Amino acid sequence: MTPAELVQQALMARTRAYAPYSGYQVGAAVLTIEGDVVLGCNVENAAYPATICAERVALTAAVAQGKRQFTAIAVATRNGGSPCGACRQVMMELGPDMTVYIADASGAYRTTTVRALLPDGFERDKLAD
Ligand code: THU
Repeated sequence: MTPAELVQQALMARTRAYAPYSGYQVGAAVLTIEGDVVLGCNVENAAYPATICAERVALTAAVAQGKRQFTAIAVATRNGGSPCGACRQVMMELGPDMTVYIADASGAYRTTTVRALLPDGFERDKLAD
């Protein structure tokens, strides 16, 4: 699975977005260490704070499928929007070493990492001290 292929998966997931309130459709595709891909899209709610972002849908669905190790995540929006703070924290929890591809609707993408997106983040190992 190349980065461009993972981005294409995120673009496909984006078509499934349920975003009747914002109109801002987001797709995510997370790549497991086994090479599997799990998709997510944003799912909005009339009670706005109950909305779930695409990245967290993908990562939590992957955990529910028994997957625990992730190498990369692609996120696709219409204009290359960057993951929100809550999603960065969940990425830090479940895939702190992931590469992150941030794509727009054309499939163009930039490459970053979870650690670059959330510098000096709170990590699970702190609770073990
Ligand atoms: N959204 C995501 O799915 N991921 C992000 O990282 C940022 C925001 C969604 C939530 C909401 O449905 C819409 O984009 C506008 O905020």
